[in-house]
Amino acid sequence: MKIFVTGATGFVGSAVVQELKSAGHQVLGLVRSEANARSLATTGAEVHRGSLEDADSLRRGVEASDGVIHTAYNHDFINVTREAAAEADKCVIDILGAALEGSGRPLVITSGIGHLANGRVLTETDVPDPSPGSVRVIAERAALSLATRGVRPTVVRLSPSVHGDGDHAFIPMLIGIARQKGVSAYLGEGRNRWPAVHRLDAARLFRLALERGTAGSTFHGVADEGIPTREIAETIGRRLNVPVVSLSPEDAAQHFSWLARFLAVDAPASSARTQERLGWYPREPGLLADLKHGRYFEGGALLPDRHRAPVCPEGPLRMRPLPERTASAWRCRAPHQLPPGSMMTRGRAGRQRPAAARRRRRRRRAADERDTS
Ligand SMILES: NC(=O)c1ccc[n+]([C@@H]2O[C@H](COP(=O)([O-])OP(=O)(O)OC[C@H]3O[C@@H](n4cnc5c(N)ncnc54)[C@H](OP(=O)(O)O)[C@@H]3O)[C@@H](O)[C@H]2O)c1
Repeated sequence: MKIFVTGATGFVGSAVVQELKSAGHQVLGLVRSEANARSLATTGAEVHRGSLEDADSLRRGVEASDGVIHTAYNHDFINVTREAAAEADKCVIDILGAALEGSGRPLVITSGIGHLANGRVLTETDVPDPSPGSVRVIAERAALSLATRGVRPTVVRLSPSVHGDGDHAFIPMLIGIARQKGVSAYLGEGRNRWPAVHRLDAARLFRLALERGTAGSTFHGVADEGIPTREIAETIGRRLNVPVVSLSPEDAAQHFSWLARFLAVDAPASSARTQERLGWYPREPGLLADLKHGRYFEGGALLPDRHRAPVCPEGPLRMRPLPERTASAWRCRAPHQLPPGSMMTRGRAGRQRPAAARRRRRRRRAADERDTS
């Protein structure tokens, strides 16, 4: 089949292109820049110039293909609100859907799991109501409603961490912050869970959804059902050789800035139904193994340029300048330099030492020195 792929040069979309080509499909990839056109052409995919804002280019892409995989998304949350990005995504899906109407051809769209978090295991059959926190539900609904209009729509909900080489989302951000501040942190007890999936497993899921997904189905790109955030912080701490600390919500807001909200999310999710329906099984390393043995720690940059702005659709409405107190916390290099509060530090030996206890010990040492002098 010839598949029209939006976001064909993105982190996820470029893996989808490779996966489709390896399975014998042809790819028509949407690109909006010369550089991306050149890079896509080297993969053997056909270049389709246009953009999400150019409805004609989307219609022409659909007309020239046997199916569509839509992964492009506007992640520029400095200039666009989350709601506006989600509305724009729905608009694109409406255009793709109208062009596909009556054809019976497949349309696979992308959504996320993080924004649907409710502290219990999310399944494919959970269909939350749209709310200010779950903006992508409107796009899911728009896509699935096309099943009644002669389209074969499916939704792939991705884990908040899609990991692997080229990752530029949450995990590199956490590594960048830990590197910059000299501590790897988690919130509270760090028992809240993040699901994860490898980029190559996600790409295979998109292909299988396209080939085998029945109209109106939702699939979960979930390999690790829920890794406690403390384990992620500990693995990062070990790799960077920095202490691992627990932060109170107030300190976490300062330490992680806008990312704190996501670090607090408890979003376990299952892909049991997806595996059963599509015969999709994750084959690649899990997130912790990827952190231990992958390439996340090569290079040593603090926060690569792409990490400076939130890139996840579940991101904040806008990046705001750090307030003064946060800015000074940002410059901290070691746990004892972090703002005082309820923070607990955890040495590499794994022993917990409350900050207050350390202060008491320091005061005692200072008093001892005064006594002996
Ligand atoms: N990565 C994750 O961890 C993760 C987690 C959960 C969900 N997701 C979702 O998965 C999907 C793919 O994410 P990703 O990480 O692959 O994103 P990405 O690396 O930022 O790639 C986005 C792609 O979309 C294209 N694009 C953006 N705006 C466009 C526009 N107006 N017109 C045409 N193309 C446009 C980009 O092209 P340019 O190069 O021209 O900008 C790029 O090819 C998104 O829906 C994302 O929200 C990702």
